Amino acid sequence: MSHNSTILGIESSCDDTAAAVIHNGVILSNVMATQDVHRKYGGVVPELASRAHQSNIIPVIDEALKIANMSLQNIDAIAVTQGPGLMGSLIVGLNTAKGLSIALNKPLIGVNHLQAHVAALFIDHQVEFPMLCLLVSGGHTQLIMVESFDQMNIVGNTIDDAVGEAFDKGAKLMNLGYPGGPIISKLAENGNPNTYSFPDSQTSNLDFSFSGIKTSLLYFLRKQIETDPQFLEQEISSVCASYQKCLIDMLCKRLTKGIKQFNPKSIGLVGGVSANQPLRAEFAKIALKYNIPSYIPKFEYCTDNAAMIAIAGSFLHQTDRHLKISDLPYTRS
Ligand code: KG4
Ligand code: ZN
Repeated sequence: MSHNSTILGIESSCDDTAAAVIHNGVILSNVMATQDVHRKYGGVVPELASRAHQSNIIPVIDEALKIANMSLQNIDAIAVTQGPGLMGSLIVGLNTAKGLSIALNKPLIGVNHLQAHVAALFIDHQVEFPMLCLLVSGGHTQLIMVESFDQMNIVGNTIDDAVGEAFDKGAKLMNLGYPGGPIISKLAENGNPNTYSFPDSQTSNLDFSFSGIKTSLLYFLRKQIETDPQFLEQEISSVCASYQKCLIDMLCKRLTKGIKQFNPKSIGLVGGVSANQPLRAEFAKIALKYNIPSYIPKFEYCTDNAAMIAIAGSFLHQTDRHLKISDLPYTRS
């Protein structure tokens, strides 16, 4: 990859407003404003997310430039998340990026959020291709055969919910708050993961399904609480540990199957749920078992961030894949 560029990356696809600067392939800053406003609703409220992006975006960009010790004049191109994501949230980042692009007369680069999650691996790793990458986020769960930055083929996909959603909805059922993944994972530390079991759904080949396990948690909790109203207070840690273990098993089963089917040179784990410590541990075990290199981004590059948008942008910039300002790139997925 040509490293002779300074790119400003902007991410606003969901509930985090983020900006980062990459210079000659090195991340100089990675700033993020998380939106606490959604916590009390147990999920992201799109209208509130757009409004918070609108207030945060300029200060976040300013901060990213300041930390990188760069001015807007030093930037060669502006990369921005083009989709998938919440329309109202995406528009804030896109229009800010368009404005900067016009004002500075610098190219605008549209980045696919999922491709950027995978590209997060290229920040700190020399990846051996082909890599079988497990992408686990709040909106997506996919197995991707990655031949290069430009060639990524989805070989497994969820047929309903994403695994992050299974964490978030599970936490909501137990009144634990949002986002559910880190909360369930924290509580699970004090529980026994082998206490309860929740069924895996049958899917064809490498596809995933997480709506069934969420429903089975709901019925399980109803039944237990009917006989013992104190059940959840007493057993919360083990319920969380067991639920988390079943979700991890469902992911690892498909990953293992994919390794056997495609015989990749390496494996990767990306997306918000890749911040999950027990999942990282299981992933490392699989790599050891199959004796292949494995990569996971640093924690700050797992959940939504702009460093991954900036690195993806620098790949696209290298071959002049710029957007026309007149494009209305809101629905690219
Ligand atoms: O990639 P991401 O930040 O946003 C999307 O693109 O969706 O992923 C967010 C998801 C949420 O569902 C959140 O609960 C989950 O990642 N998550 C975790 C952990 N940290 C974040 N899930 C399990 N364990 C964690 N430690
Ligand atoms: Zn994401």
